[in-house]
Amino acid sequence: MGNSSVFRIFESLPRLGGGDDEHTKKAYSRITDLPPGGGEILDVGCGKGAQTMALARLCPSCRIRAVDIHQPYLDGLEEKIIAEGFSGRIKTVCASMDDLPFEEESFDIIWAEGCASIIGIEQAVRYWKAFLKRGGYIMISDIFWFIKTPSEEAREFFAEYHPIMMTEEEGISIIRNAGLELVGSFRLPSRVWEESFYGQLRERFGGLEEEFADDKDALMVIDGLKRQTDIFDRYSSEFGNTYLIMRTPL
Ligand SMILES: C[S@@+](CC[C@H](N)C(=O)[O-])C[C@H]1O[C@@H](n2cnc3c(N)ncnc32)[C@H](O)[C@@H]1O
Repeated sequence: MGNSSVFRIFESLPRLGGGDDEHTKKAYSRITDLPPGGGEILDVGCGKGAQTMALARLCPSCRIRAVDIHQPYLDGLEEKIIAEGFSGRIKTVCASMDDLPFEEESFDIIWAEGCASIIGIEQAVRYWKAFLKRGGYIMISDIFWFIKTPSEEAREFFAEYHPIMMTEEEGISIIRNAGLELVGSFRLPSRVWEESFYGQLRERFGGLEEEFADDKDALMVIDGLKRQTDIFDRYSSEFGNTYLIMRTPL
């Protein structure tokens, strides 16, 4: 998500990555130990806040800071927060996930749907850990290889578009080496990725190409997304979205 065209292309999508409320709930159910008065949640890379709103409903006593680097996404989220009456407990903050404007040991949960690999899973886990209270949790959902030797075509695509993509085992090793305990993990069914993201993109490619006809950078991004959608259609058994829920020692 390095240039502004990417942000604008995604503005028309309901979600900015694969996922849905059911799987946010499933990941949240692995969090079994929160302070009685409700916890402090940091939702990093919150985008338009689909999971922010789900978390607010799942934990009615929690307070949430929703952080993203793109203010227009946060403006959209603010409207949802007001509409659902959550202004008292969700605050949006425009900041970078690798330069967070918070005190260390401030949060019970750090939630990162579809964004940790923007700074790299290892850097994310090690940097965010410092913002957790003792016994706090991090939830990362991100794209991982499901197998060690993927098909050549899929491998070549991701070598160009997302070269730091790793296997789930490598992700879990990073978590353990950072001194965290893995308390749960599961894969997002590819059906949900199709419904929530790739299918949504597919419906919009024609319109996006017209809208961005004069923007060479944007057209390159759209072309990459088309190729990614095609790779997903054919190789979704080889890679996908995995949820990893981890905890700092008590
Ligand atoms: C794939 S989207 C996921 C958004 C949301 N969590 C979801 O699942 O719909 C990645 C998000 O990370 C945000 N982002 C990109 N770079 C960032 C950074 N350095 N710091 C904070 N947010 C960033 C983008 O604006 C985008 O909203």
